[in-house]
This record gives sequence, structure tokens and C-alpha cells, in this order.
Amino acid sequence: MERTGSNFAAARAPATVANVAVGFDVLGFPVDAVGDTVRVERMDGPTVLIDSIEDGGAAIPMDAAANTAGVALLGLIRAEGLGHGFRLRIRKGIPLSSGMGGSAASSVAALVAANALLETPLPPERLLPHALAGEELASGSPHGDNAAPCLYGGLVILRSTEPVEVVRLPVPRGLCVALVHPHRELDTRTSRGALPRDLPLRDYVAQSARLAAFVASCFMDDLALMSRSLEDVLVEPRRASLVPAFAAVKRAALKAGALGCSLSGSGPSVFALCDGIVSARR
Ligand code: HSE
Repeated sequence: MERTGSNFAAARAPATVANVAVGFDVLGFPVDAVGDTVRVERMDGPTVLIDSIEDGGAAIPMDAAANTAGVALLGLIRAEGLGHGFRLRIRKGIPLSSGMGGSAASSVAALVAANALLETPLPPERLLPHALAGEELASGSPHGDNAAPCLYGGLVILRSTEPVEVVRLPVPRGLCVALVHPHRELDTRTSRGALPRDLPLRDYVAQSARLAAFVASCFMDDLALMSRSLEDVLVEPRRASLVPAFAAVKRAALKAGALGCSLSGSGPSVFALCDGIVSARR
């Protein structure tokens, strides 16, 4: 976060890997290599104006009420009863519809920069609900597994959104991620549409066991247990066909020694968790 003067501030928010194979809508971590930057300036009147969007293509709306960062700040203004508003300049570093949390990053960067301009800055739990409103606008669902790790940092579990409770997990020594972004887009709404409203109880039981064991592996610093846990039986099988060559990429990652491999968020990006940087590069 850079506060550049009394009336404006800029923040950069990182990409994120959500779900992490076993924690659909509740587990995620940031990847600092790419991110979105938002410059926010205070202005008179409790509204939001978007002055520019760089590198976003025509698909990102300039109308604040239709833009994830705009909606987040409109929510902040309403919730805090602010007498002033904000003008935004957004620079997209995260490819659109890539499964790397681009919508969450824009909202979080806007909120963090705007927060720095408040008389009394708010704690993250008062900012997160507005980022979730941005997610709802973008995908039809207020999931927080991109926004929470983006805002809080670290490998996090979102225990609850109302009230906000974010739990940070310890990261085992040497754990690295390889993240691959194919040159195609997959809308989160479409990817969520591939999931049935009701899922078989046996899949829920199997996934719960894996998520619990994954969390235990973090506390036990046990990458072998993490590897045995990193298998998504709930969501990935129902989405895999949306990403051509996913099965081949996953096979290659596991053959090269990855601890586990799955879709990043709703795809099409694919991540692999690895024991060490050499393995991740391989
Ligand atoms: N948990 C969300 C999903 C993440 O998989 O739909 C979207 O980025």
C-alpha cells in the first residue's frame, strides 16, 4: 500500500488460488507474482467514479455499480455513512476470467487504498464484506476464498462470512506452488453452473476427510499427508471437462513429483503444490 498524499492512495492486491482442491469456497492463498493495482482519490459526494481501467479490455465495466471494485467502495460508503466518495484508476495485472482471483484483487486493492484515506481506518473484517459484494456481482455468489487470502495474506480458511472469521493456517516448510495460466477465459459463473445444487453425501464425507487431513498436515508440517489429502472428489470431476487438456496437465504435474494438482479457483488456471522450488519448476 502506498499513500501518496492526503487525498489519494494506491494499493496492489495479489492473485489468489482458491479452493486448493479440498476447500471449495473456504480455502485459499495469495500468489504475489501478479496483482491488480488501484489508485483511489477522495472526492466530494458519497459516490464512486471510475476514471480509467488499464489492461482490462472492454469487458470490465466503467460504471461503478457494475464494477467489482466500484461496488465494494459503494458498499463501504453506505456501511460507514461516509460523506465523501472516491475516484478510481484501476490497473489490471491479473488476466480476466483466469481463475486467479482477478475480481477479488481489484475489490481488495480499492478497499485497502480507500481505507487508508478514512479518518479512522477499519480492520479487515469490516472491509471483507464489501469485497464479497464485489464477488457476488462478478459471479452470482459471495464466496470469499479469493478475497479473504487476498486481504489477509497467507493460507487461510474462511470459517464464516457472517460474521467474518478468517483463520490463518501455518504453511509447511518448503511448500511451493506452480501456477499455470492457459490462454483462455472461463467465467466463474459458467464454472459454478457446472455444479449441481445437491451433491452426494458420500462425496461430501470423502471431501470433509481430505480437508480435515489437509489442515492437519499444515499443523504437522507433513507434506506426505498433504499429498495424500490433496484430492478433490467433489468439484474438480464436475468441472474438469471445461478445461481442455486439464487431465493431461495434471498427470504431467503428478509425474513430475507434485504433491497435488487441481484447478485454481474455478479454472482454467491450474496449480500444483510442490515440495520445494526445484520440484515446482519441474
Ligand atoms: N470457490 C470459487 C469457485 C472460486 O470455485 O467457484 C472462484 O474463483
